[in-house]
Amino acid sequence: MPRISSLECSRCHQHVSADMPQTVCPACAGSLYVRYDLTTAVSRPAPGGTQSMWRYAAVLPDVEPVSLGEGWTPMLRSRRHPNLYLKEEATNPTGTFKARGMSMAVSLARHYGLKKLAAPSAGNAAGALAAYATAAGIEAHLFMPRDVPMANYLEGIAYGAQVTLVDGLISDCARMVAERIKEQRAEQAAGRLAPEDVWFDISSLKEPFRVEGKKTMGYELVEQLGWEYPDAVFYPTGGGVGLIGMWKAFAEMEALGWVTPGKRPKMIAVQASGCAPVARAFEAGEPASKFFENASTFAAGLRVPKPYGDYLILEIIRESGGTVVTLDDAIILASLLDWSRNEGLLLSPEGAAATAACDQLLASGFLAPADRVVIFNTGSGLKYVDMIAEAMALKRPAEKKCPQRVPVGGIITPV
Ligand SMILES: Cc1ncc(COP(=O)(O)O)c(C=O)c1O
Ligand SMILES: [Zn+2]
Repeated sequence: MPRISSLECSRCHQHVSADMPQTVCPACAGSLYVRYDLTTAVSRPAPGGTQSMWRYAAVLPDVEPVSLGEGWTPMLRSRRHPNLYLKEEATNPTGTFKARGMSMAVSLARHYGLKKLAAPSAGNAAGALAAYATAAGIEAHLFMPRDVPMANYLEGIAYGAQVTLVDGLISDCARMVAERIKEQRAEQAAGRLAPEDVWFDISSLKEPFRVEGKKTMGYELVEQLGWEYPDAVFYPTGGGVGLIGMWKAFAEMEALGWVTPGKRPKMIAVQASGCAPVARAFEAGEPASKFFENASTFAAGLRVPKPYGDYLILEIIRESGGTVVTLDDAIILASLLDWSRNEGLLLSPEGAAATAACDQLLASGFLAPADRVVIFNTGSGLKYVDMIAEAMALKRPAEKKCPQRVPVGGIITPV
């Protein structure tokens, strides 16, 4: 594994040390990228080898992994469209790609000796953080919207995290986490709180390592296509961490000579019409997004009204020659059922937004049938049983009676 040479601000390019935990750039609050010395020759992973994202250890931080078997997910070829591949992230621990980012971020947190992590989340990141924090023996504090999918609420409780349900969106959760940490720092300064009791904010793009975990999706998709780029990548975009991570992976692979030189894929960001801040900014030619009021969609992971890394997402889409597609929930649901009935895959609503977007760009001629396309199904539809059933107006046929109930109380903090 390479030593990190520094952390570089994605906005003002200032470098800071990785010897201690860092959040965002101290000068401009931009997101920090992990930089390595990639001039020494590192070879591609051997065929076979480690069957997790840690097969790319040569380009990841030099740290003892907290692993539950994340990554190295299947690349499934569509049964109907020979040039269309689905990157099936449902097979990750906790059922979504959030496992990659959290495995990496929690590994570094343990390395730094952090004891308490906090995260605002649309749901799946919270579930993943809860699992990895438990595996690392670290305390997790989760802030989620009250109407989060049931699976995410259950994960938080089952993994023993501290769960706070918020009447609002992920943006409200983020504000609450930041306020709590500010209060704790004041308590620490006054000598009333030990430094290890101050939470560390592990929000998307407000620490450098979730991107490092998610960048492995970029390495994987290129390796699984025979070390070649596809023509386009569809990515359901909330905070955009995966999109940013994959683009970083492409740059690193080029620096290392791992990828057959060619044109990088068009990066297609997919959003729901009910929460489309990136789409609005893209269409208006703006460098950053504006807060999207009254955000609402059943694709819970896309309900991010103002992504922290919006400037990076927009830059990447434009540089790649990609675009942003927005879809109504009804179209997303139709694509979800199309894939379950014709391909045998129950996609997450976010993944179904990506499949629907692909149909749209093939129909419009933006993509040609001969183009090789990778669509990310970022999570399992089984994490959304309640949401999908509600969207389908499907009622539970009978009330299930659990013969033995074991109440688990005392850890929920309703706000
Ligand atoms: C299943 C799923 N897909 C996509 C996203 C969006 O991910 P990102 O924040 O990396 O854009 C999320 C975020 O919660 C998610 O849970
Ligand atoms: Zn900066």
